Amino acid sequence: MKILLLGSGGREHALAWKMLQSKECKELYVAPGNAGTASIAVNVNISATDFAAVKAFVLDKGITMVVVGPEDPLVKGIYDFFKDDAELAAIPVIGPSKEGAQLEGSKEFAKIFLTENNIPTAAYGSFTADTLQKGLDFLTTLKPPYVLKADGLAAGKGVLILNSLEEAQQELKNMLVDAKFGQASSKVVIEEFLDGIELSCFVLTDGQSYRILPTAKDYKRIGEGDTGLNTGGMGAISPVPFADEAFMAKIEDRVVKPTIEGLKRRKIDYKGFIFIGLIKVGDEPFVIEYNVRMGDPETEVVIPRITSDLVKLFMAVAKQNLKSKTILVDERSAATIMAVSGGYPEDYEKGKVISGLDNVEDSIVFHAGTGLNESEVITSGGRVLAVTSFGNDFREAIKKSYQNLDKLSFDKMYYRKDIGFDL
Ligand code: AMP
Ligand code: GLY
Repeated sequence: MKILLLGSGGREHALAWKMLQSKECKELYVAPGNAGTASIAVNVNISATDFAAVKAFVLDKGITMVVVGPEDPLVKGIYDFFKDDAELAAIPVIGPSKEGAQLEGSKEFAKIFLTENNIPTAAYGSFTADTLQKGLDFLTTLKPPYVLKADGLAAGKGVLILNSLEEAQQELKNMLVDAKFGQASSKVVIEEFLDGIELSCFVLTDGQSYRILPTAKDYKRIGEGDTGLNTGGMGAISPVPFADEAFMAKIEDRVVKPTIEGLKRRKIDYKGFIFIGLIKVGDEPFVIEYNVRMGDPETEVVIPRITSDLVKLFMAVAKQNLKSKTILVDERSAATIMAVSGGYPEDYEKGKVISGLDNVEDSIVFHAGTGLNESEVITSGGRVLAVTSFGNDFREAIKKSYQNLDKLSFDKMYYRKDIGFDL
């Protein structure tokens, strides 16, 4: 296979690292990639959402498979772009169709899908500027805290959790009337608050059958003790200790199977990952969101634990032959800790030289926001490096990552020192 991987984060470095372990992978290109992917594959200076440039590159290089990392190109319809183009139709794209990507691209679509398939999720209402008054009234029927979600993609910032009714009503107006999140908040989903502990379940599907991948738990807040602003994720562990066999059986029966059946019933083309965000309330799983891609930094713990050949799995997905495959998993735990630029998730500086990369032992450093300046690796984003380690349990894995983080540095580097604190 000559594979083109789209994206540029820690997730893509981890996917590239894993695909390169396959004998099936003859050439690997990453667009646009980062300094980490440049060290193992060939970076291509093309934006993942510039479909015309992707097409030209694919034809020029004779690419035989495209793997999509982030949600943006999927929601914009890259799967359909390939399928509907005579020159590209035979090249498999690992990722859902545009309609399938609506599971992430529209919170309202996801809620309708969950409801019609009887999948446990929070009670909700969906409102626009025209139905603002109904939304304000709906809030009075709920107990605090109040959960407001911009319908569209809002770079992970579109969910507000508010303690007072007045605040919630004001924010609803800000979103619907004053376009707080632009077009993304022209529709808002208001949800009942679910009180429990979060985890994520990952599924690979060919649209007919599915395989459940290792679970993971990520830590989204910037501050220790889960405080401060939401980020893309500050660290993750896999497996999730409280996701025992009985709980996983509930997730499979009540969430995963009905999700795949629901996709089939709607005749949605879906050949890729499904990331199911769950909250465990008591002993019951509830879905809080779908994403149509792998998580970042969850990928940096889930993918290294998979011992099966990932490219062969993708080939089976493309041929809708996944039911003939088993996915083997390393029994050890994995943890990743994200080193970020000081100031993130608000303003931060870029271009800081990263040192110590060669001193890391017994951990894998996946690059997230890095670039190259001559031969120096420099920071180029908020989340910079994900340091992944294995251990007999998550505590041992976390400890190794911290030992290696001690050897890494760049100006104003920050990381959470309490990943796993709640387990
Ligand atoms: P989402 O983008 O839908 O995953 O929401 C972002 C975060 O908001 C989640 O990771 C949860 O921590 C929180 N959240 C979302 N929906 C709910 C809910 N119904 N109840 C409690 N917390 C929620
Ligand atoms: N870590 C959360 C996400 O990838 O959406």
